[in-house]
Amino acid sequence: VGLHTLAKSKGKLYFGSATDNPELSDTAYVSILSDNTIFGQITPGNSMKWDATEPSRGTFTFTNGDVIANLAAKNGQLLRGHNCVWHNQLPSWVSSGNFDAPTLTSIVQTHCSTVVGHYKGQVYSWDVVNEPFNDDGTYRTDVFYNTLGTAYIATALQAARAADPDAKLYINDYNIEGPGAKSTAMQTLIKSLKDQGVPIDGVGIQAHLIVGALPGNIQQNIEAFAALGVEVAITELDIRMTLPVTDALLAQQKKDYQTVISACQNVAACVGITIWDYTDKYSWVPSTFSGQGAACPWDANLLKKPAYDGIVAGFGA
Ligand code: G3I
Repeated sequence: VGLHTLAKSKGKLYFGSATDNPELSDTAYVSILSDNTIFGQITPGNSMKWDATEPSRGTFTFTNGDVIANLAAKNGQLLRGHNCVWHNQLPSWVSSGNFDAPTLTSIVQTHCSTVVGHYKGQVYSWDVVNEPFNDDGTYRTDVFYNTLGTAYIATALQAARAADPDAKLYINDYNIEGPGAKSTAMQTLIKSLKDQGVPIDGVGIQAHLIVGALPGNIQQNIEAFAALGVEVAITELDIRMTLPVTDALLAQQKKDYQTVISACQNVAACVGITIWDYTDKYSWVPSTFSGQGAACPWDANLLKKPAYDGIVAGFGA
């Protein structure tokens, strides 16, 4: 039985994978990705980001994003939108534009409402705001925060809600897998948005993790988010290792995948899990962390690794 079918049978909404446009010419890759018993959800790894969708002010391009959205529709898969507002992959016309606060507010509104509106009815959930925090729980001092303070978060969420009232609106970040300053800061933000009546439906826990070095209390941390009345998703799971691959590392990786999946499985509000691509062939890890890789459950030959069995075990099968 496929991972998505298994996840559904255990009460989750989906098990999914990120993907990206260049990989879609690989037919062996696409045939596994498109099997909706394995993957019931996909996330575009790059093609809905700001640099891809509004490369110059007011000029929107949805060609690549539409390819992923259409693939999900054809396969009967849920789609997660990723993302509206992020400091990275942000065109320089935004980051270096020296806009005053009213102008930047309007730029954020236009971007979020146009992108979310374009995909209205096609997206289960949107990462409306991505990575707003530093690891110590302070706000990241990007162009949005520096110009608008935290107000840009509500602006983006309200624009997204108006553009697609049925999409679940998320804030997504990394290093919030376990308890700590950054998770606490996210909880404080969620509470404050709810107190102000700003639409917020979910917290995305990215989960770019390291073999043998998982944070403790992942489940307790998911429960703490759920207690705020939001849903939770594991949005970008991968668990990297220092190369070369050894049997011992693969065995530890299997355990670590099981730990993360079971933490989500054990909390009703944790609706689904997305791996940040399913195969080492297309993982972002080696190009970012020199000497590291093998982070995905399928190897570079599209063969299942022990991690796959760890996922199955994590769902309690
Ligand atoms: O588009 C250019 C292309 O024109 C150029 O020829 C090529 C040469 O390097 O680069 C292309 O841009 C790359 C882009 O992916 C699209 O392929 C960038 O160099 C590369 O840095 C970028 O990496 C992406 C990364 O986000 C950027 O931060 C990864 O594919 C993507 O998987 C990764 O995803 C992020 C999530 O969005 C947020 N959370 C962390 C996660 C992992 O970093």
